[in-house]
Amino acid sequence: MGEENLGKALEGADLVIIPAGVPRKPGMTRDDLFNINAGIVKGLCTAIAKYCPHALVNMISNPVNSTVPIAAEVFKKAGTYDEKRLFGVTTLDVVRAKTFYAGKANVPVSVVDVPVVGGHAGVTILPLFSQATPQANGLSHDDIVALTKRTQDGGTEVVEAKAGKGSATLSMAYAGAIFADACLKGLNGVPDVVECSFVQSNVTELPFFASKVRLGRNGVEEVLGLGALNDFEKQGLEALLPELKSSIEKGIKFANQ
Ligand code: 2OP
Repeated sequence: MGEENLGKALEGADLVIIPAGVPRKPGMTRDDLFNINAGIVKGLCTAIAKYCPHALVNMISNPVNSTVPIAAEVFKKAGTYDEKRLFGVTTLDVVRAKTFYAGKANVPVSVVDVPVVGGHAGVTILPLFSQATPQANGLSHDDIVALTKRTQDGGTEVVEAKAGKGSATLSMAYAGAIFADACLKGLNGVPDVVECSFVQSNVTELPFFASKVRLGRNGVEEVLGLGALNDFEKQGLEALLPELKSSIEKGIKFANQ
């Protein structure tokens, strides 16, 4: 409703979900959205720092690998940064990994869990099918490679199917609602709420990384480690670090310009 209404919308908020920005068109990567969405995110985070500095922030706007670092820098400058309160929403990657795995393993998706780590773009999305529950017998290495690729390309698959009309909307809303609900449960003191999210992290040498996170009354209660990776996942982790690093640095640089 216009920038002049931002204060009224934000004041008193415990949780702010940021889906604002432009979506991809066929042939675009999430990073191609940077020039437009980075400025939008910067403006919104400046307003959050002013009107609801203690709110949890759920960042959906792409490229998430860069917009989360942008938000962190804006909050640092404003003196309001709390690393426990800033989240990149990667839940849709988990939703996709679970859905594709359940289909292939022929188990109901409602009982499936698959951690997805790294970031939220292409190869930076790393599903850990070796840790999937229940463990499906009979999936070959080729099956796992194909499931990994489909999870990484799931967003692009939607963009291509929509042929210029945007990117995932309903599934993103579903995933965003799951994650926001988990944050609210944490704020309300529900024990053992764990979701994957792209947060400030010591899990790798990068300052931000997606992994399982325990949510609590202050936001991030604990950033959980990666657990045991198989060789394929170790390779995937090595391969994603350079791209994720440069996306993080791009966000930091933009915010400080
Ligand atoms: C997706 O993965 C829009 O980035 C979002 O589809």
